[in-house]
Amino acid sequence: MSIAPTTAPSDAEARIYTDNNQPETDYTLLSKQLAALIESEKDTIANMANCSALLYENLEDINWVGFYRLVDNQLVLGPFQGKVACVRIEIGKGVCGTAVAEGVSQRVSNVHDFPGHIACDAASNSEVVIPLRNSNSEVIGVLDIDSPSINRFSEKDLLALEEMMALFSANHC
Ligand code: SME
Repeated sequence: MSIAPTTAPSDAEARIYTDNNQPETDYTLLSKQLAALIESEKDTIANMANCSALLYENLEDINWVGFYRLVDNQLVLGPFQGKVACVRIEIGKGVCGTAVAEGVSQRVSNVHDFPGHIACDAASNSEVVIPLRNSNSEVIGVLDIDSPSINRFSEKDLLALEEMMALFSANHC
């Protein structure tokens, strides 16, 4: 009896993107889908869950999408898709904590060059983090998306994701 050779599951391939050569995403369609998902639902956690699933299914070459919520001045893990992740992040720590401390989105082409980056999944090589605000423009959390590839997220991705988070905030926070 012959035994079929087995191969170990390989990690996601780590590509290196050049600027303006990242995967294209139809953000017009994604924004419409997000609007349809959240327009008649006021529960923020449920909407975060569906938003993370929508992005995880439709963005190429990513390994984690999720939200951290600002609770008692700490970021606490919220709805996400991907491997288990660190639960609490201090303001000012890592990419997520920096986005909150500075109130500014972070587009990190190589997380290993980011001082204090928190490696939840060793496969992650680039990352984008967008602050999520309430109707008073106060930061109430972040959207975090990770990729196994270097420089996965373009400026266009960042701007489109910021618009999606503005849409999310306008409807639900
Ligand atoms: N890398 C993040 C931590 C969250 S995980 O990537 C899901 C950071 O440095 O803040």
